[in-house]
Amino acid sequence: MDRKDFLKNCLGLCALSMVPVGLLDSCTKTSTAPTNVNFTLDISSSANAALNTVGGYLVSNGVIVIRYNATTFEAYSAACTHEGQQVVYQPGSSQIYCSRHGATYNPTSGAVTGGPAPSALTKYTVTQSGNILTIKS
Ligand code: FES
Repeated sequence: MDRKDFLKNCLGLCALSMVPVGLLDSCTKTSTAPTNVNFTLDISSSANAALNTVGGYLVSNGVIVIRYNATTFEAYSAACTHEGQQVVYQPGSSQIYCSRHGATYNPTSGAVTGGPAPSALTKYTVTQSGNILTIKS
């Protein structure tokens, strides 16, 4: 590498180092909503025990499944629509929450209720037959 090439490389690195870290971070979408969802969960299985308690939830196949009340289950894409962080359910405040930048979603519709999320979570249907939940697109 001659002196001219060395200086070109240094200028390129200097320019790159001036890009704000937040700008790079804002371009990072880590996950998207799953498509063609079709799976079952056996709520009598210990692996799915969280769904035996009202307010309990779990994430499976990229989908957050929530026991909203004694008879209702809800299912949404677990990927925040802002940058794809996995969301959680907070039964105390009755919201789906993303810890990355604070987006919140309605737990019965998936609609955005706060924060930077640009759109609702993708909602899936949940049907129950005995101990078996079927989650579908
Ligand atoms: S990734 Fe930014 S609010 Fe969820």
